[in-house]
Amino acid sequence: MSLLHVILMLIILALLLLILVLAFQIRKIEKEKFVIDSIYKASKKLPEMGSRSEFIRYVCKIEKDITKANEFVYFRYNEATDLLIPAYADSFYKKQILRTKLKLGEGFTGRVALSRKAGILNHATKTDISKHIPDIPNYDLSLLAIPMVFNDTLLGAILLVKLGGSTFREEDLKLSEIFVNIVSGFFFTKNLIFTMQEGVVQLIIALVKSVEYKDPYTAGHSIRVGHFSEILARTMGLSERDVLIAKIGGFLHDIGKIAIKDNILKKESSLQDAEWQKIRQHPEIGADVVSKFRFLKDVVPCILYHHKWFDGRGYPENINIRGKDIPICGRIVAVADALDAITTDRPGYSSRSLPWAIYKIVQRRGTQFDPDVVDALIKSSKEISMFVRKEFKIEDTANYEEIIKIL
Ligand SMILES: [Fe+2]
Ligand SMILES: [Fe+2]
Repeated sequence: MSLLHVILMLIILALLLLILVLAFQIRKIEKEKFVIDSIYKASKKLPEMGSRSEFIRYVCKIEKDITKANEFVYFRYNEATDLLIPAYADSFYKKQILRTKLKLGEGFTGRVALSRKAGILNHATKTDISKHIPDIPNYDLSLLAIPMVFNDTLLGAILLVKLGGSTFREEDLKLSEIFVNIVSGFFFTKNLIFTMQEGVVQLIIALVKSVEYKDPYTAGHSIRVGHFSEILARTMGLSERDVLIAKIGGFLHDIGKIAIKDNILKKESSLQDAEWQKIRQHPEIGADVVSKFRFLKDVVPCILYHHKWFDGRGYPENINIRGKDIPICGRIVAVADALDAITTDRPGYSSRSLPWAIYKIVQRRGTQFDPDVVDALIKSSKEISMFVRKEFKIEDTANYEEIIKIL
């Protein structure tokens, strides 16, 4: 082999090496560009996100794209209990993971959250991961955990898992950490709003419970009226928001009864005129209470008009309103309320069947009740029948993610 050949081979080798280095650099630049693009998209998208889970699902997608991890878990840090609580898991072991709470400092993720320093644990041993998934089989797993911190406040931690012997690299750690650090800022701000919105749902639950404690005979009534109203509103083709307003209106329609004395509310014999007058004030009292919460303002008409007749009779007597001028949710809750009253046992009254209730309501189509709502009742009677006389707990029924859509 001549010297020229050797020089040529060396040049080719150098070129191949250069191509390899360049390819590696290009891949790195592409990955960095992906992270920058994702942060940009997140800055546009995250402020509009309506819930924590929507936000976390988005973070999960980006983190899995960056690291090519198989699994993702988000732990929410609860300061009061000092626990990391798994709040979202995109994982084969979802069931087990969601049951496993970690103390700060416990397990790999717990240690990362405590030190507030992201880390990699490639080829983790069974002991390393048993804190996360107690009954894990003996697979070769690698872990990458990132703490979510903003303004010195620990918000939670993210755990990424690779299965089958694949490992994480320093570059995965760096890029996924950059993304998490930046979105943690958005998350912190959104978290305050989410917490406030959760407070609203808790407030609705507290209001409903206060009526139920006051008048156990109507326990379950408010919730069933909420469900009936939702079905009727949906059958009438109302918008998603108006369907929700009707539902919450149903939950809260009798809230004004908290202001009525027990001896009147629970009286089994017939009521005197003055006592009737008191009872008839409950829609206005309820509307007054709920109108104090600005974010529930659209629910107020459901409460105010649920005893107002379509032909203008009923109460409140001092409000001169009739027909389609009565807000739709008031006309809907009126039918839902009558339906539940007829089909359930109350003091001095035995429940009747759903067909009988529909028959009675149809008799008042156009006088007491809006003909369109009555038609919707007939149309949806099969769906309605599933909720008749069913006992519900408001805590199980008030869907947080759904309710905040009206705020
Ligand atoms: Fe009522
Ligand atoms: Fe009622």
